[in-house]
Amino acid sequence: MDFYITTPIYYVNDKPHIGHAYTTIVADALARWRATQGEHVTFSTGVDENSQKTVDAAKKAGQEIGAYTDHMAETWEAAWRTLGISYTDFIRTTEERHLEVVRDIWGRLEAAGDLYKGMYEGLYCKGHEVFIKESDLVDGLCPEHKTAPEVVREENYFFKLSEYQEKLLEFYNAHEDFVVPANRFKEVRAFVEQGLEDVSFSRERKEGRAEWGIPVPNDPHQAIYVWADALVNYITVAGLEGWENHPADVHTVGKDILRFHAVIWPAMLMSAGLPLPGQVAANGFLTVDGIKMSKSLGNGVDPLDLAARYGVDALRYFLLREVQYGEDGDYSELKMKERYNADLANGLGNFAARVLTLAEKEGKLPMGLQTKESTQAFHAMGRTVREKMSAYKFSEALAAIWDAIAFGDRYVNDKKVWEIKDEAERREILADLVALLEAIAAEVAPFMPETAGKIKAAIVADGDSIVAKKPDILFPRIH
Ligand code: MSP
Repeated sequence: MDFYITTPIYYVNDKPHIGHAYTTIVADALARWRATQGEHVTFSTGVDENSQKTVDAAKKAGQEIGAYTDHMAETWEAAWRTLGISYTDFIRTTEERHLEVVRDIWGRLEAAGDLYKGMYEGLYCKGHEVFIKESDLVDGLCPEHKTAPEVVREENYFFKLSEYQEKLLEFYNAHEDFVVPANRFKEVRAFVEQGLEDVSFSRERKEGRAEWGIPVPNDPHQAIYVWADALVNYITVAGLEGWENHPADVHTVGKDILRFHAVIWPAMLMSAGLPLPGQVAANGFLTVDGIKMSKSLGNGVDPLDLAARYGVDALRYFLLREVQYGEDGDYSELKMKERYNADLANGLGNFAARVLTLAEKEGKLPMGLQTKESTQAFHAMGRTVREKMSAYKFSEALAAIWDAIAFGDRYVNDKKVWEIKDEAERREILADLVALLEAIAAEVAPFMPETAGKIKAAIVADGDSIVAKKPDILFPRIH
């Protein structure tokens, strides 16, 4: 393995909405892009099951918990399959391989003297699965879930996060790119600089709460807090030894869970004597028509519904092109249609159809780029895409590909290929256009794998020549 990338593992109390799809598609584009660079990629995703939310959701659905989680895990995995996610491992936190690693890590934290029993008192929001500060409440309610938190007083195991303040800051200083984008790294740093409090790492197991989590080794009346269990999934996928040799290169996460990944997780790994991940990349939040989406509010947009109406690649394209990575973004039907018609139907789709129709008429063509002009456009695209992908600037990487499409369109128009009488000249330009289209397909493949495949399949090598065959319309116009 050369490159190990992860998505968060998703709660199974609901089905995916486009916010989850966005995080996963980002990771997929990165994973696929790395693979095109010749790297052997491990790409993990999965579901987070050991939470009280799961118990509540199963009850609400009137299902036995095992059957419910099996069904939901399959729902998530099927969604990712439909969206072309090239994961190499799908982890469920109820799997035995995971329980073993969680117990091992717990033992390491304990052996390091970083776990102790203490009294916990706090306001607990079930929707968040976290204790919530009084100052964050609005009219006594959790502002996101609009429910009153429970007052909880109980004995818990605590993790000595406070001991790791200095070590974390040292680590951040030595790893300038540990969190991207840089502004989020600043927030993380500022948070740690304020001083860290120890965090509760277990829950008392009782009816209605923590019935379902992983029991604390040698203390079955306590369940491991769902986050302390969930983060460990990244080790489970690699295997302990695997992680020691090659920890994750990138954890892709949403900004809501950045602190867990950039503060608590590295501290846990330090305590366990294990290597730290290379980077945590945080995306912003997606709204729909300007309104925040959340499982609890039930206003999510179904990515499978969008994929069925516009196509998987159109959805992937929209999200990666429209959202500036790291910033919040917005989905609306109108913007989706606009991008679809302008960039896909009139842009890539039309260019591919033009080139392949002309080339098909011509028959066999020489292989490869022929002129300096198009070779330059080709190199500019490659260079920019590489640079932007390394910087998580997906929208700009796509813009660079669309620059090459615009170049190609201009090239066809300026040369008026269909009017050229001189056969050698016409063949040269057509060969150029086909080679450029092929390069565009290769660059676009991590973002739009299906479309890239269709274009590539339309261009067949025949000895030193190529033969083009016009495919069906790639992106039929939508009204
Ligand atoms: N189970 C935890 C993660 C554990 S990782 C060790 C969890 N799950 S979640 O299902 O609630 O959300 C996971 C992620 O989904 C978020 O961090 C974020 O990446 C993504 N998103 C959820 N809603 C989103 C939007 N509205 N917009 C963009 N991403 C969103 O938290």
